[in-house]
Amino acid sequence: MEYKTLNNGIKIPVLGFGTFQISGKQCVESVLQALKQGYRLIDTAEAYGNEKEIGEAIRLSNVSRKELFIVSKVNFTSYENTKEVIKQSLEHLQTDYLDLVLLHWPFGHYYQAWRDLEDLYNQGIIKAIGISNFDMDRMIDLIHFNHVVPAVNQIETHVLCQRQEEHQWLNKYQVAHFAYAPLGQGQLQDMFEIPIIQELALKYQKTPAQICLRYLTQSDQIVICKTIHEQRMIENISIFDFMLTEEEMNKVKAIDRKQIQIGKANQPEFVEFAMTW
Ligand SMILES: NC(=O)c1ccc[n+]([C@@H]2O[C@H](COP(=O)([O-])OP(=O)(O)OC[C@H]3O[C@@H](n4cnc5c(N)ncnc54)[C@H](OP(=O)(O)O)[C@@H]3O)[C@@H](O)[C@H]2O)c1
Repeated sequence: MEYKTLNNGIKIPVLGFGTFQISGKQCVESVLQALKQGYRLIDTAEAYGNEKEIGEAIRLSNVSRKELFIVSKVNFTSYENTKEVIKQSLEHLQTDYLDLVLLHWPFGHYYQAWRDLEDLYNQGIIKAIGISNFDMDRMIDLIHFNHVVPAVNQIETHVLCQRQEEHQWLNKYQVAHFAYAPLGQGQLQDMFEIPIIQELALKYQKTPAQICLRYLTQSDQIVICKTIHEQRMIENISIFDFMLTEEEMNKVKAIDRKQIQIGKANQPEFVEFAMTW
């Protein structure tokens, strides 16, 4: 595993296990298996409804708390009750602190929620705080009118939607680029068929998924991907024994289609839809 240091000095593994759309017994088993395969960053959210199962998997794993990096998110529908929601997350996850908590979406009372996160951060209950799905204008606004600069912005990022412009802005404000849906959430069937991805997979004797994940981690991003299959857990974490050359990185950079699939937080139709959640 490789690590990145966040803007407050906290170290985070650059590859983690995502738990969106995994629930119940399957969630306990998947997280337990992921921990067995060496994942230490676990990403969840209030909205995923699986924090209890993750807490159970962590308890069963016997991995010590200090080895883990637990990330959760407060949903925008709870921004007026942020402290209560975090208290519940702590109980469900069976821990007395969280490594990183994010505001899940830039909707509703997010200023109020951010100030509550700042309080919990100052009390040491949360080791780092960040945002998710924030466009750069909202992120800059939040930074200018608050005290703590977000440690990360978790945004949809994959080889077909690389967020290259956003990456520059994130760097400027020392906010780490945290990539979600790095495999396009399984919705972008042609991602693995792209000639340069296939070519690199052949050269390095890796799978197209491994090339996609390696490209992102090598682009100074923290990446989380989800799978319920043990073999894919092993595949996805086995990306630290090779390195793409600068020329290869540039070739993959050139296939960006800026194709946002999931995190369309700045599109009116999407925001209207989100208000029904
Ligand atoms: N902040 C946000 O708003 C937000 C939004 C979405 C996601 N996230 C976080 O980011 C995590 C990752 O994103 P995601 O789950 O949406 O999508 P993802 O990780 O890009 O893709 C998951 C899909 O890819 C498949 N897959 C996994 N490994 C594979 C491999 N090696 N080869 C081929 N297919 C593979 C999985 O299928 P199987 O499970 O069948 O293997 C699943 O269908 C989430 O779990 C969640 O923690 C955050």
